Amino acid sequence: MRLIRVNNYEEVSERAAMMIAAQIQLKPDAVLGLATGSSPVGTYQRLVAWHRAGKLDFSQIKTVNLDEYVGLDGTDPQSYRYFMEDNLFSHVNIAKENTFVPNGKADDPAAECAWYDANMERLGGVDLQLLGIGNNGHIGFNEPADFFTVETHLVDLKESTIQANARFFDSPDDVPRQAVTMGTGGIMKAAKVLLIAAGKEKAELIERAFAGQVTPQIPATILKLHADCTVIYCGD
Ligand code: F6R
Repeated sequence: MRLIRVNNYEEVSERAAMMIAAQIQLKPDAVLGLATGSSPVGTYQRLVAWHRAGKLDFSQIKTVNLDEYVGLDGTDPQSYRYFMEDNLFSHVNIAKENTFVPNGKADDPAAECAWYDANMERLGGVDLQLLGIGNNGHIGFNEPADFFTVETHLVDLKESTIQANARFFDSPDDVPRQAVTMGTGGIMKAAKVLLIAAGKEKAELIERAFAGQVTPQIPATILKLHADCTVIYCGD
C-alpha cells in the first residue's frame, strides 16, 4: 500500500485524475470502478477537461459504480446514477450502455446484487477502482460490522453515514436508510485500487487505520491486503 500525503484537494484531484488517465491510455477498453461523493468531484472535472482537450477517449471504457441508494431511480438528483451523469458521463464520449450503477429501485434486490457481481465478471473484472472513505471507515457502503461482506449486497446505513450524507439532502430525514453496495470482495478483486480523501478528520483516520490491524470495524483496512493500492490524501 502506498500512502501519498499531498498539500491540498487540488493536488489529490490532479494526481488521481492522472492515474485514471494513465489507465485509459494503457488500456483504452479498461473497466473503471467509480465512486460518488465530494472526494472525486475534482478528479472527474479534470478527466472531463482532458477529454474536451482531445487527450482522453472514453469510447471503449466501461464503468461500474460502487453503490446506489435504495428507493432512488436515476432521474432523482440525489441518486448516484444522476451524480455520475452530472459529473462525468454526460460530459465525455462514454456509451451509456457501458456504464453500470446498481439499481436502487430493483424489485428483487438480492437478484440485482447477484446480477451486479456476475456483470463485473462478464466485463472481465475492474482494472482500476476509485474509492472515497467515510468518516466511519466505510468503503462503498460497506459499513463497520463484525465481518466483511464479500458480495454486492443490500445494507442498512449507519447513523454516522446518514448524518455525514445529510449535507446533500434538504434534511437528514430525506437520506435513504438503505443502499446497494459492491462488497469488499468486488473491491479487492480490482487489479488496482486508488483511494482519495481530503480533510483533517479523514487524514487522521487514514494514518491511524492503515497503521493498525485489518478489521471489519474499519472496513477500509482490508485494503492493506491488496497488492496494488494507492491512497492519495491531504489534511486540508
Ligand atoms: C460513494 C461511496 C462512499 C464515499 C464516502 C466518502 O460512492 O462509495 O464510500 O466515497 O462516503 O464520501 P465523500 O467523498 O463525500 O466524503
